[in-house]
Amino acid sequence: MNIVILSRNQGLYSTQSLARAARLRHHYVRIIDYVNCDLVINEGILNINYHGQVLKDIDAIIPRIGASWTSYGAAVIRQFEYLKIFSTLRSEALIKARNKLICSQILASHGIHLPKSIVSNNSYAYSALLNEFEGDKVVIKLINSTHGVGVLLANKGIQAENILEAFTRSNQKSMIQEYIAESKGADIRIFIVDDEIVGCMKRQAQSGEFRSNLHRGGSSTVEEITEEEAAIAIRAVQILGLKVAGVDMLRSNRGPLVLEVNASPGLEGIESTTGNDIAGRIINFIERNIQTEDSTL
Ligand SMILES: Nc1ncnc2c1ncn2[C@@H]1O[C@H](COP(=O)(O)OP(=O)(O)O)[C@@H](O)[C@H]1O
Ligand SMILES: [Mg+2]
Repeated sequence: MNIVILSRNQGLYSTQSLARAARLRHHYVRIIDYVNCDLVINEGILNINYHGQVLKDIDAIIPRIGASWTSYGAAVIRQFEYLKIFSTLRSEALIKARNKLICSQILASHGIHLPKSIVSNNSYAYSALLNEFEGDKVVIKLINSTHGVGVLLANKGIQAENILEAFTRSNQKSMIQEYIAESKGADIRIFIVDDEIVGCMKRQAQSGEFRSNLHRGGSSTVEEITEEEAAIAIRAVQILGLKVAGVDMLRSNRGPLVLEVNASPGLEGIESTTGNDIAGRIINFIERNIQTEDSTL
């Protein structure tokens, strides 16, 4: 098969791991920077040019879209979709998962439990809205945060109001969220490929920090999850239409809460923590789909 990995950086662990797994299985792999893909839109003809050449004869793409390129990345994936090329990530699913507000709305409307969240543009209402949360702290996060940057823990009074005001003033969309103190700086990352759990780890924030992101100095260990947690994670990715995803969960007093669903989850943490060949599972998923398509010809 001809597989294209859409990635801005050839040197990234995830990109390398996927390329290696595909080559091991005797596929031809190209790593393409999607930002340099030109989208040609013409009556009945949609092409993708890369460095002046039309991309042709591609069987499948594996999009690895960075947070700051979501919109253009989704447009490139959409162009491949119109060309009927198999993608491990649908453009629509990427857009839904990337935005913490859209993602929360969709999951909550399907009965998935999440930390209570409020979004508001009315600075005069902040004080009353903050009082809707129990406890003396809240989490305030940018709707488009990644790697924990722009996720803050604040005291409910004037401190939280000031942070919200600063975000609003600088045109940064944010949300207020119930602080799940009992998870004690830990969350669970459940990695799913094609509706199957392929690896789980617990990430623990370093001392003095509540964010467990590995990029924020968190540490990870292999973790067993309950059947309930597994079922919730699989349901969440199905609702969003994702086939390769990392579901982050907090263990709260009222049960598992989905924190977010990552549409381009990193492979380094999960592969090195669990020792599982997750990239290989992603390539197997592509093989199954391309084979099915071939056999129906
Ligand atoms: N409501 C919350 N209660 C407790 N901890 C939280 C809460 N929200 C986020 N965290 C911690 O902060 C980390 C980063 O938050 P998250 O929403 O995943 O943002 P990002 O997308 O930037 O990773 C989480 O992995 C978790 O450890
Ligand atoms: Mg996160």
